[in-house]
Amino acid sequence: MKIARTIPELHAALDRERPIGFVPTMGALHEGHLSLIRAIAEPQRVVSIFVNPTQFGPGEDLDRYPRQEERDFAFCRECAVDVVFAPSVDAMYPRRTTVVSVSDVTERWEGAHRPGHFDGVTTVVCKLFQLVRPTSALFGRKDLQQCAVVRRMVEDLNLPVNLVWGETVREPDGLAMSSRNTRLTPSARAIAPELYRTLCEAQSKLLEGPESEEKTRYIVQNSVDTLERSGFDVDYFALVDTDSLKELSIATSSASLIVAAKLGDVRLIDNVQLGDF
Ligand code: PAJ
Repeated sequence: MKIARTIPELHAALDRERPIGFVPTMGALHEGHLSLIRAIAEPQRVVSIFVNPTQFGPGEDLDRYPRQEERDFAFCRECAVDVVFAPSVDAMYPRRTTVVSVSDVTERWEGAHRPGHFDGVTTVVCKLFQLVRPTSALFGRKDLQQCAVVRRMVEDLNLPVNLVWGETVREPDGLAMSSRNTRLTPSARAIAPELYRTLCEAQSKLLEGPESEEKTRYIVQNSVDTLERSGFDVDYFALVDTDSLKELSIATSSASLIVAAKLGDVRLIDNVQLGDF
């Protein structure tokens, strides 16, 4: 496995004769990341590990974001990764004069609660796509809005990459794996699975039918109340169209339930889909 720290090192490490499957990450790898890496279908596996400062807002957890590079490299070796790209901030951003910005699908939810976040994501993902030039890139549905935003960027800019979505990998108690879970206190960790349990309960109530706008409103409000009672500080809980992320008043086959909520200073997001993606 080759480790590239700079852009020239990356170009030297990549084999341009073999198609590339690419998983961009911010490191602190867990089974969610590894499931994406293992799902790469191309003969050359490339992973980037870069805690991207431009997607963190002021007061967010950039400084506290877990960094465990040697462990990450060992996981990548186990997953038969050919090239890890782990650049410095200076290597990725010698200047910050150009921003790739997707409108519309970024306006709500994560975009509204984390101003500038998606500009940071699309700028770095666009740069990484240009540098790695993968045949396919894999993203986890855990970050559902990120999937929709990256898909929109790829469509709008006609980027020649095939996007592949991976299912959310969960702990045995249902909590979606996340690098941020390590920052939960023991008592917050005990409450955290309630997020997924509440999503699943709302999902089954919505699928029970008959549907009405009033019923949807009731189920969503009830979910927020349940989470707040458990100790979450809920940023949003919503029924949305999976592709456009627009709020829905009635469940459709392309709907998802999305949630973001804080436990102390740890912000968790999760979602369940009601139909096909
Ligand atoms: P990061 O949070 O490290 O996640 C990297 C990839 O792993 C993303 O596609 C994310 O959706 C996926 N992932 C995270 N947890 C998962 C889980 N429990 N199950 C399945 N997939 C999971 O997302 C980012 O980094 C950054 O925004 C990035 C795209 C790398 C740009 O900086």
